[in-house]
This record gives sequence, C-alpha cells and structure tokens, in this order.
Amino acid sequence: MQDRAITNSAVADIEAVTHATHDEVARQRFCSVLRRHAIQDFANALESDYRGRVAPNLPAAPASWREIDRAMENEASYRFYSTLRYNAQEMCFLSVQPEVERALPELVAVARAAAERNPAGGSLTLDPAFEVPAYVTTLDVHLTPGCFHSEFTADDVAQGAVVNLGARVFTAQQSHRSWGGVARVVSRWIKATYPDVRPLRMLDIGTTSGKNLLPYVEAFEGVEAHGIDVGAPLLRYGHAVAEHHGLPVHFSQQNAEQTNFPDGHFDLIVSSFFFHEIPVWATKKVLAECQRLLKPGGLMVHQELPAHHLVDAWENYFWNWDTRNNNEPAYTAFRNQDPIELMANAGFDRAASFAHILPDINAYPDRAAAFAWDEPGRPRHGKGGWYVFGSRKPA
Ligand SMILES: C[S@@+](CC[C@H](N)C(=O)[O-])C[C@H]1O[C@@H](n2cnc3c(N)ncnc32)[C@H](O)[C@@H]1O
Repeated sequence: MQDRAITNSAVADIEAVTHATHDEVARQRFCSVLRRHAIQDFANALESDYRGRVAPNLPAAPASWREIDRAMENEASYRFYSTLRYNAQEMCFLSVQPEVERALPELVAVARAAAERNPAGGSLTLDPAFEVPAYVTTLDVHLTPGCFHSEFTADDVAQGAVVNLGARVFTAQQSHRSWGGVARVVSRWIKATYPDVRPLRMLDIGTTSGKNLLPYVEAFEGVEAHGIDVGAPLLRYGHAVAEHHGLPVHFSQQNAEQTNFPDGHFDLIVSSFFFHEIPVWATKKVLAECQRLLKPGGLMVHQELPAHHLVDAWENYFWNWDTRNNNEPAYTAFRNQDPIELMANAGFDRAASFAHILPDINAYPDRAAAFAWDEPGRPRHGKGGWYVFGSRKPA
C-alpha cells in the first residue's frame, strides 16, 4: 500500500486491490453458477412445468401474470426456484464481503490518492450534507447488504467494492451479459441511427461506479462525461477506476430528481438498470429533469425493463418476481407505465420518442438496428437484447 501511495504518480488499480482466498474464489464461482442455474436453466424448467402440468389443469387459461402467480404460488417447482434464486442473488454479494473487509484500508487509500491527484483530469464531488432518498435507505436494494450508500469509516469505499465485485460474480457465467455491454450496444446504436449526434457533454444518471458510462468515453472521443449517483462509496470507487484507466469522468453525488446542472447542459443523457429501482413519482421527476437538462437536438436513451403491454403473461410473471422477492418494490409499478406516455408527460415529443429492443452486438453481430416488437425471433430483453426507451429533443 505504501509503495503504491508514494511511488506511483498514476493511480493504482482499485479493482486489483482485494484478494480472494482459494476458498473464497471457489465460493464465488459456485455462486455464479448457482445464480445462472436459477435464473436461466431453472426458469426454463419452471416454465415447462407451468405449461405442461399446471396450466392444463386450470379451470380457465390465465389472462394475466397475476393469475399465473396465483396458480404457481404453492407449487413445489415455484417454491424451490424462488428459494434458489433468492439465495443465489444474496450470496453473490455476500461472497465478496470478506475480501473487501480485509482490504478496506488499502481500498480507501487508493481512492483517496485518485481524489487528490486526478491524473486523468476527472473529478469527484461529494456533498456531506446530501440526503439519500428514503427509497434507497430503507431496504437493501436487490439484496445487496449495505445497499448503495452505507458508510462505515471515513472516505469509505466498501459498498463500491461490494457492489462492483459482487456484480462480477452475479453476471459471470450468464450468456448475453458482458461488463459495460449495455453502454457498448447503445453507443454503437446511436452512431448508426443518429450519425449527426456527436455528444460533447453527456450525463449518466444512477451511474453507480460508471460501469455503463466509461464505454461512452471511449466511443465518443473528447466527450465531457458526467455520472451522478446518490451513493458516495460508489462514486469514490468509480472515480478511482476511471482515473486508473486514464478516463476523465466527472462523478458527483446528486439526486437525479433535481440536479445542479444548468438548463440545456447535455447533448446526451443515458441511464441503465435505473428507473425500475425508484418509485414512479420519482421517475416522473427524473424525466422532467432530463427534459430540462437536454439541449435542443440532444438525445436521451434509457435502458430498462420492458413494459407490461409489450411482453406476454409468462414473461411478465418472470420479471415481476423481483418486486416481492428482491427488495425492488417499484419494479411492477414501473413496468405498468407506458414509457412513451411518461416521456410525453415530461414534455418530450411523442413523434421523436422510441421504445424497443436493441440487439446485443455480441449475440447479433449482423444486426446494428433495433428489432421490432413483433418480429419473429427477436431476442428477449436480457437474453441477447436490451430494451431501451428515449427521445430526441427537437433542434
Ligand atoms: C441498479 S443501479 C444502476 C447500475 C448502473 N447504471 C450500471 O449500469 O452499472 C441503480 C443506481 O441508481 C442510484 N440511484 C437511486 N436513486 C437515485 C437518484 N434519485 N438519483 C441518482 N441516483 C440514484 C443507486 O444508488 C444505484 O447506484
């Protein structure tokens, strides 16, 4: 730790600071495989059980995901699947906690060095008086112990490390998921679909530690990139990652419902995996804030979960599991919204708005454009495709 702090003018790699023991690595690998098994293989088996055994014995075909939910609630297959999925989710994050705890002083030192030196030219702006919204502080969102904001020591980065390392365990072994993959898909799609959009200043809301922001800095050369989040430990960690990689990113602790940026400040606003985690009333405020912050001619693209009316009852049933079981209480309510309506109510032009699936470039290298909803063979969100909604502000 001392050597790094004294001799390096650049910033050490915060992602390489923790070291898992042999047994911890084995546990993490087990958790990755278990989660993949629960959410992919077992989910397929559950669907087969429903269609082949449960559904034919129902008095009438279920008209909605809620009816499927009622039919499956007490079935052994559902109860086993749900237990497995819940525990696999929680264990992914628990599995990285010991290595983070052991390395915490060094993690904090590396993040402090990044904040003091800023060798890449980025910045970190935290607000000691910041009030983290209650929808983040009242529960451990998606079963991440300590959630996004908890701090246990001065200049704490523990939650940044737990969320990031845990997410790596969580996504390993899953086909169609790569680190920062959403940002690579969306930035490539923007270039192909809106060639005149060459963002000079962009914002990622709910950036966590910038996983889906950093690829934009590489995609749009010279862009001034800003990432906001409510969790200080995430931002400290993300700033250290970006500075280590030589990427000048400006991280600030702000509530996306109301930021301190001037009107028309950004020509690109993005988010990923964000809106389903906040209440619908907050979603409306955030979209109104995006409308204020976007320049005329600017583009907004949010990756999210598909709305209810776009997918069938079974897929709705699959997605909405998280509402009750994964500490994401706003999930179903968000999916009940029509994103085009939400954007129109926030002042966006309906005709310039969109909501569709973007093919993942790794899974569909020959498809640069979006899939239509009713196109045969279109990939599902999260299985080779990413659902996005957004709008372009008239110039
Ligand atoms: C699932 S994470 C987003 C993941 C991240 N965008 C990515 O792709 O890796 C949701 C993030 O939103 C942040 N968040 C929640 N409410 C917020 C708000 N009102 N303003 C800004 N960030 C918020 C949380 O702290 C959390 O980091």
